[in-house]
Amino acid sequence: MLCVHSSRLCAPAAPHGAAMRLLWITLSLALLAPCRPRAPTSRCEPGCDCRGELRVTVCSGAMFTRIPARLPPTTELLDLSRNLISHIPEDALSHNRKLRVLLLQRNNISAVEDAAFAHMEFLQKLDLSWNRIRWLSQGFSFGLTLLRELQLSHNFLTILDSRSFAHLDGLQKLNLTGNFIHVIRVRAFASMSLLRQLHLAGNQMTRLQSGTFSMLRSLEVLNLERNHLSDMDVGLFKPLTSMTLLNLARNQMSKVHFKTFVGIHTYSTHILLEGNPWHCDCDLQRVFRKLRSVQRLFLDDYHNLSCHDPPVLKGYQLMHVDTELCIAETVTVLIISITVLITVLAAMLMGERKRKKKKKAKHWTQQGDMSEESDY
Ligand SMILES: *[C@@H]1O[C@H](CO)[C@@H](O)[C@H](O)[C@H]1NC(C)=O
Ligand SMILES: *[C@@H]1O[C@H](CO)[C@@H](O)[C@H](O)[C@H]1NC(C)=O
Ligand SMILES: *[C@@H]1O[C@H](CO)[C@@H](O)[C@H](O)[C@H]1NC(C)=O
Repeated sequence: MLCVHSSRLCAPAAPHGAAMRLLWITLSLALLAPCRPRAPTSRCEPGCDCRGELRVTVCSGAMFTRIPARLPPTTELLDLSRNLISHIPEDALSHNRKLRVLLLQRNNISAVEDAAFAHMEFLQKLDLSWNRIRWLSQGFSFGLTLLRELQLSHNFLTILDSRSFAHLDGLQKLNLTGNFIHVIRVRAFASMSLLRQLHLAGNQMTRLQSGTFSMLRSLEVLNLERNHLSDMDVGLFKPLTSMTLLNLARNQMSKVHFKTFVGIHTYSTHILLEGNPWHCDCDLQRVFRKLRSVQRLFLDDYHNLSCHDPPVLKGYQLMHVDTELCIAETVTVLIISITVLITVLAAMLMGERKRKKKKKAKHWTQQGDMSEESDY
């Protein structure tokens, strides 16, 4: 009823004169108030740029310190990157249920409350990279069942809990590059049977428990570059039956077990191993020779692997010394064999000589006896 009046009041331009203007504002406010809910939210927040019939809202670099309250509810893509937002409250953006893409990278976010994204049931991509997030609460992923891509690179995460990602059933890409992760609980990725890319490069992992990847049967890319991994559990990669790329470059591996990689049952998998401190010996050479003969495995950067140990081989490329690594061993075996042979021969010779000596001695004594006899 009031709206009928207000539509007439809204139309003319504000009248001149301070008193009249005040009256106009008061009247407008009084009359418009009940009809307002739609008007302000369908406008663009100052500092933002709204496009595409208000489906795209770009508020990048607008110095926001919190998530703005009034954004067009029709927004499907919201770009809030490069602001100073430090906190994502529970039910953030609860009026923006149509969001498909939410970009929050390069803010100052340290806290994400439980169920912060619970209403974003259509959200497909969430970018939280380059923030200051230290941990993810158990309710972090609540409601994000359609999310396909989660960017969390360059935060301060240290531990991945078993429940933080529990609701991400549809996730296909998870980027955790450049955090400080040193512990991954065994069930952390348990909900992600559709995950295709897992990026864990540039973290602090020293060990991965077998079972960590046990549910990731769709995983194609596993990037573990630039961690501190030294030894892999033999069954660790076995469940990854779709893996096409395994990046283990720049870790702390000095040796490998043949079984660790031969247990990967895929049609073809490329494995990157460059930048590890290899201990070059005959064992390593044997393992690599066997691995390279496995048809479905491709050691793409084999030509770039270099020795770290023993000191005489430091800096040499494995490829250039690999034929010699076992030669040394062969030579050792040969030397030992020859030594044994010589010893045996010598022993036999000595034996023979002794026998001959004895014979001679006997002969002489016999001769002596005879001569003694003949003397008389
Ligand atoms: C970022 O947030 C921290 C608190 O978490 C605050 O101390 C700091 O001043 C913020 N930095 C900026 C640039 O707003
Ligand atoms: C993961 O994050 C890093 C750092 O932000 C970025 O360079 C890289 O392109 C991302 N990878 C993918 C596949 O999204
Ligand atoms: C591999 O080694 C070649 C030279 O031997 C170098 O040019 C190339 O950049 C190296 N590749 C990587 C990935 O380090």
